[in-house]
Amino acid sequence: MLRQIKSDIYHLLHPKMAFFLTSISKNGKPNVMTCAWATPVSEEPPIIIVCVSKESYTAELIKKTKEFVVNIPTKNLLPKLWICGKTSGRDTDKFKKAALKYHNGKKVKAPVIDGCIGHIECKLWKAIDAGECYAFFGKVLSAYADDKYMKDGLWRKETEIPLHLGGKRIVYFR
Ligand SMILES: Cc1cc2nc3c(=O)[nH]c(=O)nc-3n(C[C@H](O)[C@H](O)[C@H](O)COP(=O)(O)O)c2cc1C
Repeated sequence: MLRQIKSDIYHLLHPKMAFFLTSISKNGKPNVMTCAWATPVSEEPPIIIVCVSKESYTAELIKKTKEFVVNIPTKNLLPKLWICGKTSGRDTDKFKKAALKYHNGKKVKAPVIDGCIGHIECKLWKAIDAGECYAFFGKVLSAYADDKYMKDGLWRKETEIPLHLGGKRIVYFR
């Protein structure tokens, strides 16, 4: 029987990859939040969208400095994903709290998180006001992945990237 879904309709579109979305303030202070709502929208030129709550500190930073990085984790970073998804960079240094290390991006000032297996560095192209979120369109300036986990441009099936079902539920490929 098909039952009417009245709330959290978006869960019908999950699982979605959970990743670290990094940004930076005008005075060079980095921030990181957990994000799952993202999609590619154009291959030529490469453009992706991340959907970020207007209330988040990340949205404020992306609007100001116009760049962000998608950092793709594996299972071992799951506890850190929860930390970065439950606290705000407005009042917490999440890199410290989650013991996350980072280094400089190749093309942007926003940080690249150590230990992640893929990174997409983006320059903000457009921001669309969409309900409680901004849909940030990012022009991809640089993208790279660990060849231990990616072969011929595809993730290997055994790569355990967290896929968010909703709430506390995570699944993996298989
Ligand atoms: C698994 C997971 C996925 C999330 N996905 C999103 C998302 O796609 N968009 C969003 O705005 N917030 C998402 N969040 C919530 C943010 O990570 C959270 O609001 C965070 O505290 C914002 O941090 P900031 O204020 O430092 O930017 C997610 C949280 C978790 C745990």
